[in-house]
Amino acid sequence: MKSTVISIVLTAASAGSAMAATPVYLDPKAPIEDRVEDALSRMTLEEKVALCHAQSKFSSAGVPRLGIPEVWMSDGPHGVRAEINWNDWGHAGWTNDSVTAFPALTALAATWNPDMAALYGKNVGEEARYREKDVLLGPGVNIYRTPLNGRNFEYMGEDPFLASVMVVPYVRELQKNGVAACVKHFALNNQEQWRGNINVDVSDRALYEIYLPAFKAAVQDGGAWSIMGAYNKVWNQHCCHNKRLLEDILRGEWGFDGVVITDWGGAHDTREAALNGLDIEMGSFTNGLTSESEFTYDDYFLARPFLELIRKGEVPESVADDKARRILRLIFRTAMNTEKPFGSLHSPEHYAAAKAIGDESIVLLRNTGILPLDPAAGRKILVVGDNAVRKLTDGGGSSELKVKDYVSPLEAIREVFGPENVTFAQGYAAGRPMYSSEEVIPAAVQDSLRAEAVAKAAEADVVIYVGGLNKNAFQDCESTDRREYELPFGQNELIEALIAANPSTVIANITGNAYAMPWADRVPAILHVGYLGTMGGASMADVLSGAVNPSGKMPYSIPVRLQDNGAHAFDATSYPGVESAEGDVLFGACAPQQRYAEDILVGYRWHDTRKIPARYAFGHGLSYTTFAYGKPVLSAKELGPDGKLELTVPVTNTGSREGAEVVQLYIADDKASVLRPVKELKGFEKVTLAPGETREVTFTVTPDMLAFFDEGAHAWRTEPGSFTALVGGSSATADAKVRFKYAE
Ligand code: GLC
Repeated sequence: MKSTVISIVLTAASAGSAMAATPVYLDPKAPIEDRVEDALSRMTLEEKVALCHAQSKFSSAGVPRLGIPEVWMSDGPHGVRAEINWNDWGHAGWTNDSVTAFPALTALAATWNPDMAALYGKNVGEEARYREKDVLLGPGVNIYRTPLNGRNFEYMGEDPFLASVMVVPYVRELQKNGVAACVKHFALNNQEQWRGNINVDVSDRALYEIYLPAFKAAVQDGGAWSIMGAYNKVWNQHCCHNKRLLEDILRGEWGFDGVVITDWGGAHDTREAALNGLDIEMGSFTNGLTSESEFTYDDYFLARPFLELIRKGEVPESVADDKARRILRLIFRTAMNTEKPFGSLHSPEHYAAAKAIGDESIVLLRNTGILPLDPAAGRKILVVGDNAVRKLTDGGGSSELKVKDYVSPLEAIREVFGPENVTFAQGYAAGRPMYSSEEVIPAAVQDSLRAEAVAKAAEADVVIYVGGLNKNAFQDCESTDRREYELPFGQNELIEALIAANPSTVIANITGNAYAMPWADRVPAILHVGYLGTMGGASMADVLSGAVNPSGKMPYSIPVRLQDNGAHAFDATSYPGVESAEGDVLFGACAPQQRYAEDILVGYRWHDTRKIPARYAFGHGLSYTTFAYGKPVLSAKELGPDGKLELTVPVTNTGSREGAEVVQLYIADDKASVLRPVKELKGFEKVTLAPGETREVTFTVTPDMLAFFDEGAHAWRTEPGSFTALVGGSSATADAKVRFKYAE
């Protein structure tokens, strides 16, 4: 004991003599890379390895001896999750961690407004900073491939261009708070079924044209400081330590200088984790053999096993240096960033931001004229539906949020239309939000709730139905997919009965996914509302009353039937995959195999190319005013390899009130040597127009917008020939066309 103390004292003494000059790594004015190298030079092997794995559920070690802080992470993409216990998934029960719940990311995508993405990143970043988090585990940008994916609500829709444009401002503004984005889940985690082990087989064209672009944009344009590896496999190797994904593509092709963090429990092999580009192993029950019990963090793959590989000389210490270097860079960008602000929590500004994003996210799918409802008319309104009162920030998995405030649709509708004019009937019961199991509701309960709602409907002037999906397992929830495309809890039967009792039944469903709408042509209006968080009810009420003119556009198609969706047009190999052996999904022997058979034809690309009209198309969304498109004009008829064309299209507000339109530009390759979608989104701009106003909207067309990914050449290629630019207010109504040639 004595000798230890003496050695500490001597170290302190020597350090004391060195205290005169501030070490470079502690000098905030020194370039980050100098600080990284200086810190690394002072670290032991044990300290480098300690940086590379969890020390608790949501933190990894710093270097206490050098005064380098720990890395604190938190979910999630829509706000800062309540504090979790040190070593289990329970809530710590703090009283200072209630937050603002911002709209889910499909709702952000439905705004088609990059300014809203910037506002989102700034505000959620201020809350993460105030909660002293260094890494926010989001945004998620996995492509919406199937309406059954339980986590689509956490992502940005079916189109890679829309997701690429919307993710960048979120990342940039978030990181200005000294909080790292952790863009997830990289890659091909497009469903929850068997997510821990499924091996996804996909063509390079689909990988590069559909599934990678949003991650690439987040890295190259957003400057993301971290990426989260996905649970699943691709090319039969887990994404969290997948050489081609992490070394060849992410770092080799994209130049990523940040940190790769596993999904929680996503590491399965020490040597792969050491050599294939993983930096920090997070999670639980990660002994790779059985589920966790007393399992300690020192047993993680990148903990003692990694240290032993290096000590035995099987892996060079330089591998640990590379990981430590990237993790130190993350720490200097976040925890040790002396420029970072202090942040704030559930401020009026954050509520205003959540409201503004929610307002712009609501999609008016159908309106025969019943909307907006004038509050002054004093109509007797019946609100029906569990989602009118349910706190939809509970449940859903890791994106759950403990909110300080939550404005429910019923409260907001009563506020706007007068409590004396608004009554409520639950209509159906949905059970408690549980994870991977569900509460069975007796049929007698549902029958009774339905009867009560229908009886009340007959007495009302207008019925506003607020149902949809929720955050229960097998709904919009992590770790499980939906079991069917139809609304759950007998809602279609209820909606049919409501329509029969009162034809003035407005549908204002809340969901994170598309769903079957057999009654769509028999209701006077349909709103498609995402999970909008703290201010969601207020946004819905303001759209219903007309205080807000809806301007949202669908970020994903709404098929009439599930089998109209490309992923479901083939056998089980396409969805949900086929399980080749029994076993524990996350860590067992089972190895489900899946082939993305629709390939590049995801979403509207499938509907267009297979000529299967969606019930409501990608990019669709109505307004309380109307818009007309003039003829698009090109600055030239031919585009060369280094050239660009200006496309100008006049858009007019032909209605009687101000409104915003998302002008969408699609490009069609009129004759290609390979199969290509009929058209692809390559530009959009949201413009607000006064009644009668005409605006010339301009897009710049460049050769890269015409390219497809040539698998043989492993490069993007634009073939000479004829192309068509199509402009309009949705993928189904982009009828304003103009042709041009591309010549090399
Ligand atoms: C979960 C999720 C991931 C989340 C992480 C931490 O399994 O897949 O999105 O950030 O674990 O909760």
